Amino acid sequence: MKHETNGPPEWLQGKFIVLVGLMGAGKTRLGRIIASSFSLPFIDADTEIEKAAGCSVREIFEQFDEPYFRDGERRVIQRILAEKPAVLATGGGAYMNKETQKDISQFGVAVWLRADLDLLERRTQHRNARPLLNKGNARKILSGLIDTRYPVYSNAEITIDVGDETAPETARKIIDALINYNTADN
Ligand code: S3P
Repeated sequence: MKHETNGPPEWLQGKFIVLVGLMGAGKTRLGRIIASSFSLPFIDADTEIEKAAGCSVREIFEQFDEPYFRDGERRVIQRILAEKPAVLATGGGAYMNKETQKDISQFGVAVWLRADLDLLERRTQHRNARPLLNKGNARKILSGLIDTRYPVYSNAEITIDVGDETAPETARKIIDALINYNTADN
């Protein structure tokens, strides 16, 4: 569904809109809707990492290790942010890297999609493409990630609560927050 907007608001011209948040928060789905509303390209960081590596994120974790993935993730995001502005969906761990966080605030605005444990558990249970959740009890793992990552995600310029509404409804909340965000106050 296309929203009736005419490109990004003035303060966002030339900047990336970067979605951060845990697995299952809807970064990719919402990112596509926002990109289409603002007539911007959409980029999924995990897809770019997979293209660069020639294999899936799951295979990278299996054949190498997490530090190897994180290093590739940092480099790919750095490369994307040096290109033409877009809506960028990052993998859940990307914003935890200090350098990546700094690059994102230099070249864009970070939007944290904050969701509660029940929603994240529900939305991640039907896919096993997420290596971090295959290591044990997914609910427990997600709960631990909420504890360690939410304080860091809270550095994002904009926070949006994601609930049980439809994706177009959440996208509308994000678009409104971006339009109304007053750089002078922040
Ligand atoms: C990860 C999230 C995944 C992917 C990788 C690690 C994380 O992306 O980057 O499996 O550390 O939270 P999504 O958040 O898009 O599922």
